[in-house]
Amino acid sequence: MADGSLIAAAVAARGKAYAPYSRFLVGAAVKDEAGAVHSGCNVENAAYPQGTCAEAGAIAAMVLAGGRRIMEAVVVGAGEGLVTPCGGCRQKLREFGSADLAIHVCDETGRVRKSFTLGELLPASFGPENLSS
Ligand code: THU
Repeated sequence: MADGSLIAAAVAARGKAYAPYSRFLVGAAVKDEAGAVHSGCNVENAAYPQGTCAEAGAIAAMVLAGGRRIMEAVVVGAGEGLVTPCGGCRQKLREFGSADLAIHVCDETGRVRKSFTLGELLPASFGPENLSS
């Protein structure tokens, strides 16, 4: 079951999204190993490729606060299709999360539409352990 405070944080973060180009607002929240919740929103840029995803913002906030493990994640967005993390964000989540990390994909109201594990979204992934000899 998804953590209610994590979902609420992601919904609130979506309200702060800066997405004047796509008009597609996204919020994300991650819970760290201490139980602290960190959130982020997408921040677009006139130089389009420089925009950042909501997940990236949430992860940056977690690292700044001292968190180093992601125990649960939520992504919030509207529309017909599921707002699953993009490929780059799957890898960013992988840096701090294990294959069984739960990622809840919610609509803009915070209703869980579908839950995945990171292993499902990013199978046979490359992570920090792969660098140790
Ligand atoms: N976006 C996110 O922030 N997270 C996702 O999981 C999917 C996409 C953003 C990037 C861009 O600002 C907008 O949504 C449209 O792609």
